[in-house]
Amino acid sequence: HTFTIAAVPADGVGTEVVTAGRAVLDALAAASGGAFAFDWTEFPWGCGYYERTGRMMDDDGLDALKGFDAIYFGAVGWPSVPDHISLWGLRLRICQNFDQWANVRPVHFHPGITSPLRKADDTPLDWVVVRENSEGEYAGLGGRNLSGRGPGNEVALQTALFTEKGCERIARFAFELARGRERKKVSSVTKSNAQQYGMVLWDETLSRVARDYPDVETESVLVDAMSAKFVLRPEDLSVVVASNLHADILSDLGSALAGSLGLAASANLNPERRFPSMFEPVHGSAPDIAGRGLANPIGAIGSAALMLDHFGLSAEAGRVRAAIEATTAAGVLTPDVGGKAKTGDVVASIIDQLSS
Ligand code: NAI
Ligand code: MG
Repeated sequence: HTFTIAAVPADGVGTEVVTAGRAVLDALAAASGGAFAFDWTEFPWGCGYYERTGRMMDDDGLDALKGFDAIYFGAVGWPSVPDHISLWGLRLRICQNFDQWANVRPVHFHPGITSPLRKADDTPLDWVVVRENSEGEYAGLGGRNLSGRGPGNEVALQTALFTEKGCERIARFAFELARGRERKKVSSVTKSNAQQYGMVLWDETLSRVARDYPDVETESVLVDAMSAKFVLRPEDLSVVVASNLHADILSDLGSALAGSLGLAASANLNPERRFPSMFEPVHGSAPDIAGRGLANPIGAIGSAALMLDHFGLSAEAGRVRAAIEATTAAGVLTPDVGGKAKTGDVVASIIDQLSS
C-alpha cells in the first residue's frame, strides 16, 4: 500500500525536523520490502511564502490537502510576520477546517535524557495530554475597538466557546484512550471555580460521560493545581484532558519536564476520518537555533510514529519508538538535552537502529 502524505515544513526548524522525519519514514519503507511506501508532496507555505505572496497558504490550499492520507507539519512562525497572522493563516486554518478536534500530546520520558522530575526510585512516568482542538479559548471570537471612545480607551473582547457536543466528544475520546492504557484514569482540567459558564458545562458534560466508563477512574482538577501536580505528583497521571488553551500550556510544561520542548510529539486528529489528520512536533519554529543543525528531531520523528499508528502500522510505529529510545540511551543527543550531536547525527543513529 502507498500512503500519500502532504509535507508542510513551513518555517525555521520546521524545515529541518520535517526533513528528519521524512528520512526516517523513507528508511522504514525501503526496509519493508515493498509492503508499504510513502508518496510525499511538499507544500512551500509559511512565512517566506507570505512575504512573497501576501498569503500564508494558497487560497485553494485546503482543497489541495483534502485528498491526502495525512499531513506532516513542521512549525509555523517567523519574526517578520505577526504570530497571530501566521498561526491563523496556516496551522489553525488547517486544524479548524479539517475538524481536527482531538489533539493528542504524549508526555514521554526517554532513557539517557535527564528530567528534572526523575524520581529517586525511578517510578516510570508516562502520561498523555488530550487537547480540545476546535473551540474553547482559540475559537477566534471577539473583537477590538469595542468602546468606541478613542485612543487610550480601547476595549477588546476574546471569548471562549464551549459547546455541549464539543465537550462530549473530547470527553469520550479521552475515556476511550484511557481504556486502552495500563492506568485507566482520566484527569479533567478546568478553571470552573472562576469561569462559571463554559467550564461548568465542560465539568457537567465530563461527569455525564464518565458514567459510561465505570472502569475508568475520573478526577477533576483546576488548571493551577494541575500545573503543580505535573511537577509534584506526575505518577498520578494517565490521560489529562483539557481545553485548547489549558492543554496547550500543560503540554509544553510536560515536554519541558521530560527534558526538552524538542522531544514532544503530537497528532491533530479528525477521528471520523472525513478529513486528513495532521502530525507535528509540539514545538514552534525556534528562530533562536534555526538553520544551524541544532534542532532536536525527536518530537517530529515521534509525530511520524503517531502518523504510522494512524495508518494502522502500529508495529512499525513501535520500531521507530524503539529506535528513538536506543538512540537517546546511547547518548546521541542534541544540545537542548545536554549533548553535542547535530540533527543529522540523531537521524542517522535512529535509521541505524531501525535496521539493527
Ligand atoms: P519555540 O517552540 O519555537 O521555542 C521555544 C524554545 O524551545 C526555544 O529556546 C527553542 O530553541 C527551543 N526549541 C524548540 N524546538 C526545539 C527543537 N526541536 N530542538 C531544540 N530546541 C527547541 O517557541 P517560541 O520561541 O515561543 O516561538 C517561536 C515561533 O514559533 C513563533 O513564531 C510562534 O508563534 C511559533 N510557534 C508555532 C507553533 C506551531 O507551529 N505549532 C507552536 C509554538 C510556537
Ligand atoms: Mg504550544
